[in-house]
Amino acid sequence: MTRRDFFGLTWRVLTAFTAGQAACIGLRFLASRKAEGSFGEVLIAGLSGDFPLETVTPFEQARFFLIRFADGGFLALSSTCPHLACVVGWDTARRRFACPCHGSEFERDGSVVNPPAPRPLDRFAVLIENDRVKVDTRQALRRTSVTPEDLVYAPTTPPPAPGAAPATLDSTAPGQPGPGYR
Ligand code: FES
Repeated sequence: MTRRDFFGLTWRVLTAFTAGQAACIGLRFLASRKAEGSFGEVLIAGLSGDFPLETVTPFEQARFFLIRFADGGFLALSSTCPHLACVVGWDTARRRFACPCHGSEFERDGSVVNPPAPRPLDRFAVLIENDRVKVDTRQALRRTSVTPEDLVYAPTTPPPAPGAAPATLDSTAPGQPGPGYR
């Protein structure tokens, strides 16, 4: 093998290895997260630091999305459409949840943007213990309206002080970075 052949082969091996690594990282980025536990239980979604601000993280098997808002608040939304129970998805481009069956759309806080959904997306209770974010999927909590009290904060992330500007649940608020989708 000539010196030129050796370097050519080395270059090809390194390129293939790098491409493989990039593909793995990309797949991990796109994949739904796995929770410890299953639907119908209290699941451990992860540590609070696992969820960057302004992200929507799907837990497909457990049938919910974990949303982290710009102020650090957590919200777990059921992926079951309140119209006729199809599974909603997150539309990254439109920054909305969308139902493929009859076109209902929802904001990141679950409020209805487009009917026929008769009410906001149900939520699941979120508990944060020892920095672990837990989601109680034993019971979906129906909502007739959406309020900032639906958000849960890690002890190290205090809610906004009284009198401060209210935490926005509006995904289109100016000045906020766009949400990620992991
Ligand atoms: S089931 Fe979602 S809009 Fe009908």
